[in-house]
Amino acid sequence: MMALQQRFPFPLEENSYFYSNNLKPLQPPCCIQLTTEYFHEVAEKRRLLANHPERCFHALPGTLAAQWEVVDEIVHQLVDTYPDCFTLENRGDEWTFRNLLLNETEQFTFGDSSTLPVQPLDWIGRHVQEDLLLMVQRDDDLHLEAGQLCFPSAWSLTFDLGMAFHEIHRPVPWNHELAEKIRRFLLRVEAGKPWTRVNWAMHVGRRLDLSPEAFHEWGPARYQVSSENVADEVQFRVEEQCVLRLPGSNALLFSIHTYLKSVGELSQNPDWAQKLHSVLVTLPEQVAAYKGLTAYRAQVIEYLERCQ
Ligand code: HEM
Repeated sequence: MMALQQRFPFPLEENSYFYSNNLKPLQPPCCIQLTTEYFHEVAEKRRLLANHPERCFHALPGTLAAQWEVVDEIVHQLVDTYPDCFTLENRGDEWTFRNLLLNETEQFTFGDSSTLPVQPLDWIGRHVQEDLLLMVQRDDDLHLEAGQLCFPSAWSLTFDLGMAFHEIHRPVPWNHELAEKIRRFLLRVEAGKPWTRVNWAMHVGRRLDLSPEAFHEWGPARYQVSSENVADEVQFRVEEQCVLRLPGSNALLFSIHTYLKSVGELSQNPDWAQKLHSVLVTLPEQVAAYKGLTAYRAQVIEYLERCQ
C-alpha cells in the first residue's frame, strides 16, 4: 500500500501580500491530494455530512449531469494517480469502484442516480479530503449551483448557493478590476487545462470546519490568544484550490484542500517564519480584518520575533 504523504503548500513567496490572479497551470493535472490526514479528514467530513446535511451539501435541480461528470473525472484521477488505493472495473455503465484505504466497494450504474445512496457529487466527495464546488456557466457568468462543503473558511454554501462569481466575492477587500479580470479568466478555462492556486488565512483552534453557522463554537477563541498559547492555538490555514473545466456540461469544478499548521510548527522553518512575519507586519488593516486576525495579529508578530 502506498504511503500517504505529508504535505504543506506554504503559500507566501514574497515579504508582502496583495491580492492577485495567482492561478498557475496544475501539473500533474490531478486535483486530489491524499495526505497523512486522509482517514481523519474523510471521517470528519462524513460526520459533518451526517450531523449537518443542510449546511454541507446542496445541489440545484439541473446539475445532475455535471455532477456525474465530476464523478467520472475524480474517479479516473484517483485510479490513475493512486492505483494502490483505488480501483475501477467497468462493464459499460456498470461500475465497481473500490476504495482500498477504507476497504469499501461501491457498485452503481454510471449516470443513474437512483443506484447511488446520495447525489453523485456528494458520493464522490465522501472519498476525498477536498471540498468540491460546481460553478455552472451560463449568460456569460459563473453560478455556484452545487457543492459539498465541509471545511469552509467562514462562508456558507447555503447562503451563497445560486450566486454568481462577483456576488460570492463581495466581502473580499480587493478591487473590482482584479475580480473582473479573474472572472473573465475563469470563463475561458479550457477542458484538459486545469489551474491551481493557494489561499491563506489564520484562525484560532485546531478545527477545519469554520462554518458561519457554528461561529459561536470557534469565533470567540480569537480573543483568548496569549503569549503562552499563541504557538499551539493560532493556526495558519492554507487552501490549495483547483479549477477544472467539465467538457460535457461546460461547468467548472472548483476543489479546495485545506491544510492547517500551528504558528509553533510553522516557526520551525526559519524561511516560512520570516515570510509570515514580514507579511503580518505589512498586511493592510482591511485585509487583516477580512482574514479575521486583527484580534491577535500583534501576539503572532511578537511570537515570531521571539523565535528569530
Ligand atoms: C470559481 C470558483 C470559486 C469559488 C466558488 C470561490 C469562492 C470563494 C468564497 C466563498 C470566498 C469567501 C468569500 C466570503 O468572505 O464570504 C472566496 C474568497 C476569495 N476568493 Fe474565491 N472562489 C472561486 C474562485 C477564485 C479564484 C479563481 C480566485 C483567484 C484567482 C479567487 C480569489 C479569492 C480571494 C483572494 C478571496 C479572499 C480570500 C482571503 O483573503 O482570505 N477565488 N472565494
